[in-house]
This record gives sequence, C-alpha cells and structure tokens, in this order.
Amino acid sequence: MQATNSIRKPQIKLIMENSRRNFLKRGAAGLAATTLGLSGCAGPMQAASGLNPKDPQARGKSLATPPTSPLATAPIPIVKMGFVGVGGMGTVHVQNFLALEGVEVRAICDINAVNAKRSHDLAVAAGQKPPTLYTKGPRDFERMIDTEELDLVFTATPWEWHVPVALYAMKNGKHIASEVPFAYKVDDCWALVEHAEKFGKHCVMMENCNYDRFELLMYNLKMKGYLGEILHGECGYLHDLRDIKFSEEGEGLWRRAHSWARNGNLYPTHGLGPIANLMDINRGDQLDYLVSMSGPSRGLQEWAKDHYPEGHPKRKETFKLGDINISMIKTHRGRTIYLSHDTNLPRPYSRIKLIQGTRGILQGHPDRVYIEGKSANAHRWDEAKLWYAEHEHPLWKNEKLTSSKTGHGGMDYMEDYRLIKCLQKGLPTDMNVYDAAMHSAICELTEISVANDSQPIQVPDFTRGRWKEWAVWEVVE
Ligand SMILES: NC(=O)c1ccc[n+]([C@@H]2O[C@H](COP(=O)([O-])OP(=O)(O)OC[C@H]3O[C@@H](n4cnc5c(N)ncnc54)[C@H](O)[C@@H]3O)[C@@H](O)[C@H]2O)c1
Repeated sequence: MQATNSIRKPQIKLIMENSRRNFLKRGAAGLAATTLGLSGCAGPMQAASGLNPKDPQARGKSLATPPTSPLATAPIPIVKMGFVGVGGMGTVHVQNFLALEGVEVRAICDINAVNAKRSHDLAVAAGQKPPTLYTKGPRDFERMIDTEELDLVFTATPWEWHVPVALYAMKNGKHIASEVPFAYKVDDCWALVEHAEKFGKHCVMMENCNYDRFELLMYNLKMKGYLGEILHGECGYLHDLRDIKFSEEGEGLWRRAHSWARNGNLYPTHGLGPIANLMDINRGDQLDYLVSMSGPSRGLQEWAKDHYPEGHPKRKETFKLGDINISMIKTHRGRTIYLSHDTNLPRPYSRIKLIQGTRGILQGHPDRVYIEGKSANAHRWDEAKLWYAEHEHPLWKNEKLTSSKTGHGGMDYMEDYRLIKCLQKGLPTDMNVYDAAMHSAICELTEISVANDSQPIQVPDFTRGRWKEWAVWEVVE
C-alpha cells in the first residue's frame, strides 16, 4: 500500500512551529501544562505523558525492531484467569467467561470486598473451584499476579488502573486484557507496546462494539466488496452519562473526575474501533494526524444545579471537559474520519456508525444500508434488517453465541468468546497491542489538539511501519 503523505508532512511541521510560537506568546506554563497532560487531577492521573508532539515516534525509536507479524502464542487449552476490578462491567465479563468452555476463574481482585465476593459466588454457582479473593487495597493485584498460576489477567477497573495492572501482569508472564480505553496517555501506550513485545505477551483492548451485529454486517459487506473503496467514516460516543457520573457508586466514584480536569475525547474507542477495522487501520492503512475542538462545558454543572440543593458540594464542582468534542482524523491513504464525544447532555444514545465507500454507504441509529444498484430504490435507504438474511456475519449466525445475550445485546459475550478461542487455538488475537495503543492514544492527542487551538497533531505509528505489511482483520468462525 502506497503511503501518500510526502507533501503534507512538512506542512504539519510548520503548523506545529506556528502553534508553538502562539503558545509561547500566551505563556510557557500553559503550554507545558496542557501539552504534557498535567491536568491537576489527584492520583495516577497526574503522570506526565512524555509525548513530544514534534516527534510522536520519539519513544518508539528506543524500542527493538517491531515483529514481522502480530503475536501468536502456543495454544492454551484451559485458560486460567484472574480478574482485577469486578464492578459493573467486570461482573458481565466474569459471567461470560464462566459460560465459556475451557476457562477457569482462579482469582478475583477488587478493592471492594462485596463486589469481589459477588464474582466469587458466581464462579462457585457455575461449578468452579472457589476463586481466591484479593481485596487488600489498590495494589493487591500485584499479590494476585505473584501468587496465582494464571494465563490471562483481565482488568475492568477505573481507567487509571488499566496500565499499572497490565504492565505488572506482562512483566510477570501473564497475558492481559483490559476494558476501554486501555490507556489515556501516549507514553503509557508506548509502554504497553514495549512490554508486550519484550515479554511476548498478548495485550488486548476489549472493544465490544467491534462485535455488534450492525458493525459486523458492515464488515461483512466490506469484505465482500459491496462498499467499493472505503473513503470516509463517521463515529462517536454520544451517551448521556450525567446520572452515572454523579452517582454515589460504580462509575460515579471515578469517572466524573476525568471531566473535572481533561478536555478532549475521553472515550474514543466504541466509535473508532469498528471504523478502524473497516479502514484496515494497522493492517494496510494508518492514522496520520488529527484535529480536535471542544465546545463549552455546561451539561454537568446544570445537572448538578437541577439535582442537588443549594450549598451541596457537587454544585460547586467545575468541569474542564467540553460537552461536545469533535475530531477529524486523516489516514495515510487519505481517508477521513469524523469522531465525536458527548457524555454530558440530554440525548438518545448513538455511535453514529457511518461508513462511506465508492459503491455504497451504511449508517446507524437507525441502522440502514444503501448500495448502489443493489438497494431496493435509488437514493433511498434500505432498513438493515433486509440485508441480514443474506449478509449476516458468521459470528451472528452462530446460535450458541447469539443465544447468550449477556452484556449489551450479546456483543460482550462474542468478544470474550473470540479472545478465549484465539488463546485456545494459538492464534493472533482480533485486537492486539498496536490496536490498544492506537485507539487509546486518541484520548491524549485530542486533548493536546484542543489545548492548542485545534492544531493538527500527528498520531504515533505504534506498528513502526508494519501496518504496510500486516494482513487485514478477519473475524471468521
Ligand atoms: N465496553 C463497554 O461497553 C463498557 C461499559 C461500561 C464500562 N466499561 C469500562 O469498564 C471499566 C470499568 O467500568 P465499570 O462501569 O465496571 O466501573 P465500576 O466502577 O462499576 O467498576 C470498577 C471496579 O473496579 C474496582 N477497583 C477500583 N480500583 C481498583 C484497584 N486498584 N484494584 C482492584 N479493583 C479496583 C472497583 O471497586 C469496582 O468494583 C472502565 O474502563 C469502563 O470504561 C466498558
């Protein structure tokens, strides 16, 4: 695949120079704080990213030569698992893995003993040996990893713990899978790549939306050539999370803090995951650069005013996160992606899910298809259900899979099934460490662009050029 970026790159450099001058005018302190991600949050969020926006590959240059093909390891017939973080989403995964053949849930770690016990009881009820509990604080996962004989550690903790758990697991000989986003600092993304390569471990980001029915219909039609050449995608995460962010339990305990201090796309992967697959990102094309802008921050402040009495501390909270963040991404092969994020305003749920090719287009919410010469009427949408009969993805034809509706209509079960299948068969995983890094890096890259007047920011190539050689993503069963 020919990369077509030879003319554009110097222009980006120029823009970065201008951007730097503008920021020097405004004050170096502001630049350092925003560019390095020193957001003022408490705890692990304070870590500076170390990203050099003028040389996004800087950190990658210190790594060994990237592998010639994505990792495959020896088959693991019985996958021994340990979980870290079994709140809302972790519990869904525990239930899924307990329903899969060839999985042993050996250990459960959570700072909340009640949550840990709930998963323990699920395992026992499923006929497994009682898993060992690790509930002695936020770093007790280290004791679990040191003590237990595990193949795979699975983390569904708050965002700030995904990377510490993952690095410790890989360093100590375990594969790792994490909920999304895997990381939110570019430097952490490089650390994941470095550890996965150095220790020869799978490092998988669990992007369930890649397995949703309509996304896999899109993928099937793309693989069959119905879309022609894919030129453009639109996607996002548009989900009213105001009550969840203010809750006294679950995500309310940690997710709102990210909205205090960060401004960009905090949750890019549900939208971008399927579009990146459709565009063969990391497997024939690569993200090149992005621009991002955020609007005003109103939704969370207004929600607090409407729901808490005068004088309540939550009414005094202020939020840096713009309610609507929009980004545009250009790929090396010249394709375009529109990516948005809104979790603070009243609205029905949407991931947009639009893919445009030279021969047709699919769009979600509601799910619809238009393929020139094949749709029922020219210039008019077909409802997606008309297309499932002939073009349903093989995974969604598998009744054993689709009858297990645990989690988000079945897609969560499907992603867990695929992960275990790949490990059992010794195959490369559907999503690998380069996908985890590329998707997660979008968080900080959008924050940097927002903080720099929407200047273009280059996306690091975590594959270090291997995207030109690696085969396209196939989920076939
Ligand atoms: N893929 C999806 O559709 C989807 C949906 C919801 C959440 N998520 C993701 O799942 C992850 C967890 O979200 P959630 O909704 O389950 O949150 P949650 O707050 O319900 O669960 C987090 C759990 O982690 C535990 N925990 C916190 N720090 C810990 C530590 N250091 N060690 C061990 N346990 C710790 C908490 O006690 C809690 O039980 C997040 O990354 C989130 O973005 C994904």
